[in-house]
Amino acid sequence: MKNFINISDLSSNELRSIIDEAKLRKIKRKDLNKSAADQDKPFEGKSMAMIFEKPSTRTRMSFDIAIKQLGGYSIILNPDNIHYGKGNETLKDTAKVLTEYVDIVMLRTASHKNLEEFGKHLDIPIINGLSDQSHPCQIMSDILTFEEIKGSITGKTISWLGDGNNNMSNSLIEAAGKFNFNLKIGCPKKYMPNKKILNWAKKNKVNLLVTNKPEEAVKDSDCIMTDKWVSMNDKVNKQQKKKHLKSYQVNKKLMKKAKSDAIFMHCLPVGRGEEVTDEIIDGKQSVVWRQALNRVHVQKSILLYCFGKLR
Ligand code: CP
Ligand code: NVA
Repeated sequence: MKNFINISDLSSNELRSIIDEAKLRKIKRKDLNKSAADQDKPFEGKSMAMIFEKPSTRTRMSFDIAIKQLGGYSIILNPDNIHYGKGNETLKDTAKVLTEYVDIVMLRTASHKNLEEFGKHLDIPIINGLSDQSHPCQIMSDILTFEEIKGSITGKTISWLGDGNNNMSNSLIEAAGKFNFNLKIGCPKKYMPNKKILNWAKKNKVNLLVTNKPEEAVKDSDCIMTDKWVSMNDKVNKQQKKKHLKSYQVNKKLMKKAKSDAIFMHCLPVGRGEEVTDEIIDGKQSVVWRQALNRVHVQKSILLYCFGKLR
């Protein structure tokens, strides 16, 4: 039994197996209906509880479809409607009870500490469906999407524009170290990656460039990525933050500075006209809908990984 909390917790080989399994399973079921189960139904009789402290469209839908395709089923819990670390029940007790009912838990939380606390008291695996510190499932889906279009990500150059200190950029830095790609982050001084992740990058010899010049960040890049300037629960002065990030918008002018066949990625939801223009996100280089679809396929592999069932 294994948890899936941060990309940095897994070895490069384990992460590679997750991606490869997703590729194989996706091809194998290409003629099946969206929610039909894979032939081998490796999760028959298994169930997953999903707890969302924050809104979600993609993570909610894709995990639900993923477990169905594996032959299992899911139940979605709204923390406001269950005893979840409040009232008369501690987080520990809720975790103990869920252990009796289901086989795995997925948690989206505003506090990474909740993930660790919950995981500690569960006797079943836990998956991080986004925390304030990381979003590993999304980045794994992005690796799959990149590789389907461009081949192996190892040695390629990915650029991240905008907020350099959020859950997505943290997981992307960890992925750069594990999958060995070059990462260039273009962000203002105020929103640079934090010391903890920079130390991790240094220790793990990540080929990382952090620059305040957006043009330098996208030069010769194979893929430009960005994210909402103001994340969920980001307690900042929104207008001020947006002003700081204005020159990091991914638009036609900036995209032209990357390789001519570069792709554009965004985890969604998107702030159209803010971090990216309509022209780019709706344009030919954008692969955002494929990213959303691939959440299903990678999540299946992550679920299998947690039970030691990867090929
Ligand atoms: N990308 C992502 O995690 O989307 P949701 O917030 O809709 O789950
Ligand atoms: N950084 C964003 C990602 C959303 C999927 C957020 O946390 O809101």
